[in-house]
Amino acid sequence: MIPEVSIDPSGTTLAQHGISLPEALERRVQRVLIPEATLQRRVSELARLLANRYPNGTQVIVTPVLTGAFVFAADLGCALAAESTLDVHYALTKASTCSIATGADGPEERRVRIDLQPSDVAGHSMLLIDDILDHGFTIAALRDQMSEWGVHSVQVCVLLDKQLTNPSPQIRAKRAKAAPDLVGFKIPDVWVAGYGLDVAGAMRHLPCIVSVNWDR
Ligand code: IMP
Ligand code: MG
Repeated sequence: MIPEVSIDPSGTTLAQHGISLPEALERRVQRVLIPEATLQRRVSELARLLANRYPNGTQVIVTPVLTGAFVFAADLGCALAAESTLDVHYALTKASTCSIATGADGPEERRVRIDLQPSDVAGHSMLLIDDILDHGFTIAALRDQMSEWGVHSVQVCVLLDKQLTNPSPQIRAKRAKAAPDLVGFKIPDVWVAGYGLDVAGAMRHLPCIVSVNWDR
């Protein structure tokens, strides 16, 4: 069962968790959506679930999709050390997307630049880690690239799966293709930040996930 979080108007604020930000940023934070302790508990559970998917001692190449996945992937690696006997290696990739076609409902196609080399991944058991599944472009492109480069296996683990309220058929198809193997939490269709995720570059350092108001 994937935990599902919802927006609680009477939920906690950052100040209630003893965290402060510069005032202009703090005004944008609506609520703490996922507190630090809940995140850490779920990261340990994900590590246990992942450990059961590989034989003991398997070499796994953990590939965080930068920048957003760097906090989650670091914590997940430490949790794998506690929960498994896997031989964990890291190969970081930056995935930058740019729109190459736009429809009425937003981008219909995007180019994703992946800066891994075929020799980094060929023949290996890859564990792709991303912060959030939104339209699915990033993970779908990474899946394509991995199979083209002849990896041994691919597991995709995302911390957050955004439940889009009105996805176009193209975006539905993209998300179906991305299809993560493991999801930390299902979240509503809102902008979130913290724990690696950003709002205009800020808030990645927060230890919790917050929902963000864009128009304040
Ligand atoms: P996708 O390729 O459309 O699935 O987009 C995924 C990427 O968009 C994620 O890896 C994030 O970097 C970014 N993203 C999507 N939604 C959010 C959000 O609510 N907060 C921060 N980043 C987001
Ligand atoms: Mg990202």
